[in-house]
Amino acid sequence: MNIETLSTKKIDEKKQGNILEINSLEEGNKKLYIESYGCQMNFSDSEIIASILSKENYSTTKDINEADLVFVNTCSIREKAEQTVRKRLELYNSIKRTTNPSMVVGVLGCMAERLKEKFIEEEKLVDLVVGPDAYRDLPNLIKQVKDGRKAVNVFLSKEETYADIKPVRLSGNGITAFVSITRGCDNMCTFCVVPFTRGRERSRDPESIIKECEQLFSQGYKEVTLLGQNVDSYLWYGGGLKKDFKNIPEKHKKEAINFSKLLERVAKINRKLRIRFSTSNPQDMTDDVIASMKRYPNICNYIHLPLQSGSSRILKLMNRGYNREEYKSLIDRIKKEIPDCAISMDMISGFCTETDSDHQDTLDLMKYVRYDYGYMFKYSERPNTTAEKKYKDDVPEEKKQERLVEIINLQQTHSLENNKERIGKTYEVLIEGISKKSNSHFFGRTTHNCVAVFEKKNAKIGDYVNVKVHDCTAGTLKAKII
Ligand code: 5AD
Ligand code: SF4
Repeated sequence: MNIETLSTKKIDEKKQGNILEINSLEEGNKKLYIESYGCQMNFSDSEIIASILSKENYSTTKDINEADLVFVNTCSIREKAEQTVRKRLELYNSIKRTTNPSMVVGVLGCMAERLKEKFIEEEKLVDLVVGPDAYRDLPNLIKQVKDGRKAVNVFLSKEETYADIKPVRLSGNGITAFVSITRGCDNMCTFCVVPFTRGRERSRDPESIIKECEQLFSQGYKEVTLLGQNVDSYLWYGGGLKKDFKNIPEKHKKEAINFSKLLERVAKINRKLRIRFSTSNPQDMTDDVIASMKRYPNICNYIHLPLQSGSSRILKLMNRGYNREEYKSLIDRIKKEIPDCAISMDMISGFCTETDSDHQDTLDLMKYVRYDYGYMFKYSERPNTTAEKKYKDDVPEEKKQERLVEIINLQQTHSLENNKERIGKTYEVLIEGISKKSNSHFFGRTTHNCVAVFEKKNAKIGDYVNVKVHDCTAGTLKAKII
């Protein structure tokens, strides 16, 4: 996934369900209402969907009652995410029965891929079921529905990257944007449904990535987040599907573009364009990526590096491809090269057979790394995964919860302590918008992805400003422009 992740951070469930903004679409005759759940990749996909449908004369709306088309872009990563979507469908149902009987309802994304035709059998109001690789077919599928038939396309592709489609920027601050660089995942972590819902991993043509980033910068954007379930395994060589750098003939290695080379090419577009990326996988992250981060100041000093568990035994059961010592060694290498690099994680409590001692290993490793931020979850068994087929989901719910609370509390302590160490220091911040709590304040982020809030003074959104931190909470730096 991991693309299930968001802001460079993954969207956690509390933040899910944002209704995308509408302002960047030109007026069309027909109206599309789209809700996105889950990871950044889904949000990015919704921008591709809006682009495909803008050619069919659809503009987006925030008002479901006036929508011709109602789409929900879904997430399957945990059962709770799927339940959220089911609840939304109940609401759509009542709207269809009362205020908007002619609306066409489509389910897109990971749940569509997982449930396929079954979705239409289970949810009578659903007209369209479309998987993540089939969005180009949307115009045909919509026609099919207009002709009175239900429409399903859940074909998974080995090539589709939507490289040529210029996303319609929906989430709209005009300053930060997501750019997808890979799709799918081949890692097969035993707990994870993503390889089944998003298919085989493939990389996008680097030229189209560079072009998209250049265009964003020329439109005034100041930050791009390169997205992929596993960005470190990005590799473009000819067709873009050759995955294993080691197996490329020696004479062609020079021209192959791996993730560190891609990062550098994007970084060279302009010093004033910040680069973030998500998600890194510990088993695939190489030292040349760390070297590129060190070499280019506009590549942000922040890595989202999911751990999942601090126990080597559990990591093996999860098929994560590293053990706790290897993870620690990667952290050491990052900290040696980039001492102030911020690091965040994903963690799962209560995976199959997890004991108190495994859990202690997790807490212990957290104390070693002292993460800046964490996305923490209870294990949720997913249909057809290796874990579901081979292992017993045997940690009682209360134990999962108890351990999760301990992990969250420890993370909270670390986040606060790390932020306290930033008091008195000065950081460059990119201003992203007006603070939710005060109209006279802006918010922005440091290179470490820390949110800072400060009085507006004469600055404006999109400016880089230096701020001095004078106070903090676990989640926010309080600062002043200097
Ligand atoms: N149960 C709980 N958490 C999961 N994740 C992925 N699959 C599951 C699951 N079955 C978490 C992992 C991953 C993040 C995107 O979601 O921590 O990194
Ligand atoms: Fe991430 Fe592993 Fe799932 Fe791939 S299989 S998306 S690496 S958790």
